[in-house]
Amino acid sequence: MTLAVVTGAGSGIGAVIARHAGKAGYRVACWDLDADAAAATAAGIGDAATARRVDVTSENDVVAGFEALDGPPSLVVNNAGLVRFGPLATLSIADWKAVLDVNLTGTFVVAREGANRMGAEGGAVVNISSINGIAAAPNGGAYTATKAAVIRLSEQMALEWAGSGVRVNCVAPGLINAGMSDAIYADPEIRRLRQGQVPLGELGTAEQVADAVMFLASPGAAYITGQTIAVDGGITVAALARMARPKSVDSVGADGPDPTQEVS
Ligand SMILES: NC(=O)c1ccc[n+]([C@@H]2O[C@H](COP(=O)([O-])OP(=O)(O)OC[C@H]3O[C@@H](n4cnc5c(N)ncnc54)[C@H](O)[C@@H]3O)[C@@H](O)[C@H]2O)c1
Repeated sequence: MTLAVVTGAGSGIGAVIARHAGKAGYRVACWDLDADAAAATAAGIGDAATARRVDVTSENDVVAGFEALDGPPSLVVNNAGLVRFGPLATLSIADWKAVLDVNLTGTFVVAREGANRMGAEGGAVVNISSINGIAAAPNGGAYTATKAAVIRLSEQMALEWAGSGVRVNCVAPGLINAGMSDAIYADPEIRRLRQGQVPLGELGTAEQVADAVMFLASPGAAYITGQTIAVDGGITVAALARMARPKSVDSVGADGPDPTQEVS
């Protein structure tokens, strides 16, 4: 049985990723800052799961966590994340550093220690970014910068570790109705308005994010490394969807003007 480490497994998306990994046959090490929450996730998975309080911002915690595993990991999921909203103009250094420490430094240290311990057959690292890593959002604080950095860091890791058989990919969740967004979607009006922005017409689920993670971990993704999959219902490709267009643009086609005709 192969071994998976999931950080931030105590709640939201991480708990669902841990459960999916358990269903896929992994022994799952559920790590979280909140020991009780990690234990609850592990208990829901069964005997093949363990729980541990690991603060991903502490190199000592991370190293001790890996040393306590009963074998080499074959999957590491960097899911632990922190957001502190607010305008950059008044963002404190304390908030900036707190978000950087968890989202970027934590991802780096956990991935490095995990990849260094993967066996001769290699393994997979999946880092959780965000659509905020693809496009800026008002009041995203340090979150947007860290999630963009996670995408580039994943590419760098993919390049450096390919020779060891370690694939590194990234998942960028969109408007997900889980975890840190629960409070946002508790407001029905915000929920309705946000759903209206998504080309596929609905919010995403933690299960859909976990499905993408498990695909990237699977043999089906054996030739995929250094990539980012946005699980976002198309929202990051919709930047120009609401742009005003002249009628002639929308009528090009069978019933529109003949595109082969020269336009004077
Ligand atoms: N929910 C969304 O809409 C959404 C969208 C895009 C990306 N994401 C990303 O998905 C991931 C999971 O988010 P979520 O929505 O489930 O949030 P969440 O707040 O429910 O879960 C985050 C988990 O990380 C843990 N954590 C925080 N700091 C930690 C630390 N220093 N060490 C170890 N664990 C720590 C928390 O205890 C918590 O259990 C995050 O990386 C987040 O940025 C979420």
